[in-house]
Amino acid sequence: MSRRAAILAAALVLLTGPVPQALAEPLLVDVFKTRGCGCCVLWIRHLEENGFETRSEDMIPGMLMRYKLDSGVPQEMVSCHTGRIGGYVIEGHVPARDILRLLDEQPDAIGLSVPGMPYGSPGMGPEDERDAYDVYLIRKDGSTEVFTSYPGA
Ligand code: CU
Ligand code: CU
Repeated sequence: MSRRAAILAAALVLLTGPVPQALAEPLLVDVFKTRGCGCCVLWIRHLEENGFETRSEDMIPGMLMRYKLDSGVPQEMVSCHTGRIGGYVIEGHVPARDILRLLDEQPDAIGLSVPGMPYGSPGMGPEDERDAYDVYLIRKDGSTEVFTSYPGA
């Protein structure tokens, strides 16, 4: 290939770029949870109602906690289940719309978390009775910032 052709080919790759993950393949979330946790199953249903596909795997509680910490979830960001999609960690009852926004914006981060299990977050009771809660973005250095604030209903 001539030098000119090589430059043209490189420019073309830059212009077209990789297809966004969200468009290239189904929105598959791998969910790691403990057996018999009902709220995890309700969160999975919320994802499926919003166009995601899911796969879930049960772990014993100690293993799941180890998995969360090894995945970069800080201790104070921990919730019941851990999801994975597109290289990101989704910890706890994160709304589907925040996952879509994360995939769209592609921040350099570990992922999202809703720590604890706030009442009225997806899978945790009716949205119209919810307590106020925040979705956090977990940065790669372990710091966190508010990604979305949901006011109490
Ligand atoms: Cu839960
Ligand atoms: Cu759960």
